[in-house]
Amino acid sequence: MSSSTTTLTITRPDDWHLHVRDEAAMRSVVPYTARQFGRAIIMPNLRPPVTTAEQAAHYRARIRAAVPEGMDFEPLMTLYLTDLTPADEIKRAKDAGVVALKLYPAGATTNSDAGVTDIRKTYRTLEAMQKEGILLLVHGEVTDPAIDVFDREAVFIDRVMAPLRRDMPELKVVFEHITTKEAAQYVAAADRYTAATLTPQHLLYNRNAIFTGGLRPHYYCLPVLKREEHRQALIQAATSGSPKFFLGTDSAPHASVMKENSVCGAGCFTALSALELYAEAFEAMGALDSFEAFASFNGADFYGLPRNSGTITLSKQEWTLPEAVAFGDAQLKPLRGGETLAWRLEA
Ligand code: DOR
Ligand code: ZN
Repeated sequence: MSSSTTTLTITRPDDWHLHVRDEAAMRSVVPYTARQFGRAIIMPNLRPPVTTAEQAAHYRARIRAAVPEGMDFEPLMTLYLTDLTPADEIKRAKDAGVVALKLYPAGATTNSDAGVTDIRKTYRTLEAMQKEGILLLVHGEVTDPAIDVFDREAVFIDRVMAPLRRDMPELKVVFEHITTKEAAQYVAAADRYTAATLTPQHLLYNRNAIFTGGLRPHYYCLPVLKREEHRQALIQAATSGSPKFFLGTDSAPHASVMKENSVCGAGCFTALSALELYAEAFEAMGALDSFEAFASFNGADFYGLPRNSGTITLSKQEWTLPEAVAFGDAQLKPLRGGETLAWRLEA
């Protein structure tokens, strides 16, 4: 890392949690991520979901074809875990270069209907993953309607994560997009087989952002933003220097007509300015010196992949984020669209 008060140069980072959708919409958003990151973990919650090694290989080819000429970007593929994922799919997945499976509790979020109804139904498959060194990426929220939406992550730790860790101790698990102090504490105290990703929105905002001057759909994602005390625990974790915490934007594009709708889809689109947003959060903590490990080392190390070569440079230079960009035939509104950002990724 090299830094001055006006520039920050770090090893090329990766995005360990990303949604790019498919077809024309995908072709609109992939170039933004390819510009910022060397690799990204591609979420499998398409309709229908990516459940087989063969589907993942085809999806990877479509994403690669959307990377602009001259840009060096590698999509890292995942499968969508269901109650019925056969254990022998894991070997095929490994051979196809799939690095992880994603656990969506059924009904927890966007396109999760085909998700897992009871994690014990997947244990033979999880055992195969543990054996092959394939990771499990977890959307950590219970779906029990009796549990308050703001408590669903904390309850998930007791009901699902703790038993899973006991039963499958050497499965590498990423607790994705953590949003609470309970999750930050749980991961910090866990052994080396457990890690977590953190999004820019959960490091920068608390739940007031959803309600400032009216209802703001572009700040609505799942797990939903929490109280300020949780945001503080998350930024502490991200800047702590612990190798267990790393960058995963969860950039989740939805057409603006679907966000600005009576039922607003969950997801913040941040791919256009992800590094700038994270840099702002780290700078506010006086912690820019711990940004490189968070963005460029910890994730690769946890996944057992080589760190990237090459660097990117962020400079302290104000610019205005576009209010909207194209998303196939539709429009897409980035988080903070139309506002001024303090950092800018150099070309
Ligand atoms: O906000 C979210 N958006 N959270 C998720 O878990 C899914 C994602 C999406 O696919 O839109
Ligand atoms: Zn996600």
